[in-house]
Amino acid sequence: MALNYTKKTLEHFLHPKNIGEIEDADAVAEVGNMVCGDQLSFSIKVEKGIITDLKFLSFGCASNIATASIMTEKVKGMTIEEAKAFNWQEIVDDLGGLPKQKIHCSILAVEGLKKVIAEYEKKQ
Ligand code: FES
Repeated sequence: MALNYTKKTLEHFLHPKNIGEIEDADAVAEVGNMVCGDQLSFSIKVEKGIITDLKFLSFGCASNIATASIMTEKVKGMTIEEAKAFNWQEIVDDLGGLPKQKIHCSILAVEGLKKVIAEYEKKQ
């Protein structure tokens, strides 16, 4: 059964932004979903409280890639405090919606963001 992805979701899946690992990252974190088995790995760079770089690697589905991609675009340039308040609903709204069974992909992306920030804060 074909899923009803928006054009923007497909664009981020086919041409993801901020894919990869930051070599001199300030922190890294991995998250996974036990049910679907998908995983994400994030690396972050922070300067004076501002997220200057955020990259990800995906071991997951099309919307795992698309949601992480759009999230990294939105979060880069935010302060740590702004990023901590970032909500998965913003990803879904920005993509123009996600199929119901794929909402958890956006939640996983935000879990990864919160985890990499927590790792960063532990080191401070
Ligand atoms: S199906 Fe689980 S993260 Fe996409």
